[in-house]
Amino acid sequence: ELSADELHARIMAAKESLGKDLVILGHHYQRDDVICYADYRGDSLKLAQIAANIRDAKYIVFCGVHFMAETTDILASDEQMVILPDLNAGCSMADMADEQELEECWDVITALYGDSIIPVTYVNSTAQVKAFVGKHGGLTVTSSNAERVLAHAFETKQRVLFLPDQHLGRNTGVKLGIPLQQMCVYDPKEMEIEFPDGEGDPKMILWKGHCSVHTKFEPVHVQEVREKYPDIRVIVHPECPYETVRLADANGSTNYIIQQIERAPAGTKWAIGTEHNLVHRLAKEHPEQMIISLNERICPCLTMNRIDRPHLLWALEQLCTDRSQPVIRVDQETAKWAKLAIDRMLEIS
Ligand code: 13P
Ligand code: SF4
Repeated sequence: ELSADELHARIMAAKESLGKDLVILGHHYQRDDVICYADYRGDSLKLAQIAANIRDAKYIVFCGVHFMAETTDILASDEQMVILPDLNAGCSMADMADEQELEECWDVITALYGDSIIPVTYVNSTAQVKAFVGKHGGLTVTSSNAERVLAHAFETKQRVLFLPDQHLGRNTGVKLGIPLQQMCVYDPKEMEIEFPDGEGDPKMILWKGHCSVHTKFEPVHVQEVREKYPDIRVIVHPECPYETVRLADANGSTNYIIQQIERAPAGTKWAIGTEHNLVHRLAKEHPEQMIISLNERICPCLTMNRIDRPHLLWALEQLCTDRSQPVIRVDQETAKWAKLAIDRMLEIS
């Protein structure tokens, strides 16, 4: 086993030997000892925008999860190769919707509501789901632009099918003033629609998916930190349940959370409801503020954490020696339709 110093030295040597052929992208949830090698770091939206503009690098190594690397491959040129250092770094939320389930859902809801529906998928979804959405006139959103994109979707159709995260869908719908009574939940396992009051005429059909990390931030945690620190500000990611978001002072994407901390005066106290790698990094970078997790007992995002130094080193050294790489390649037909959904979003952002 290599020591931390040896790993660092070999990663730096591989980076240097690949030179301009290599760009490393890193999501804010990556571990400190991995994100430090990223040429660009960002939230899903920023990384997608950067990926769309990288033209000279041959290899894009993505430190993040599978759907993000797929999005990068869809936006990259055909000659570029996108590498995910551990192919098992998926996202449990993205895995909650597959193409077949989406087709079944579409049949059920179009039988009820005709062509009054536009599909909108969170980027945390597979390329196949994005392709279905693109083919059916819909578009993607990220947590940074969900409000703007959803507002745009409602300009084109009366109803939205939002997938796979019911919480981002509900929280964004509420921001746009849609009453909870006009939101229903589609359960892909039962192929059934659940209405809040038994029945209704929904404006939003929310897919029954969630993030296993963010749903662990509950209203009781907001109450606990407020009791302990009456002047604390609570800021959460909109993948948290509505009841938690409602009690928080602010909610937004990882970039938004970082911006709020950077702009706050010294002495501000924060409880943050999002992945711990980011929360702990912000606490270290801002000793002039008090920063704690809204729930220190939650598990980290296990798949984000799969990308570690040994995997990154292995991927880079495979590139240097031209051996087989953990490549992410979306087939052309899927990529074409998925790109349409992503491009529609990027135009609005
Ligand atoms: P961002 O859109 O803030 O990057 O979040 C992505 C994500 O996976 C949150 O769990
Ligand atoms: Fe997926 Fe949740 Fe991990 Fe984000 S935090 S990558 S939504 S499992």
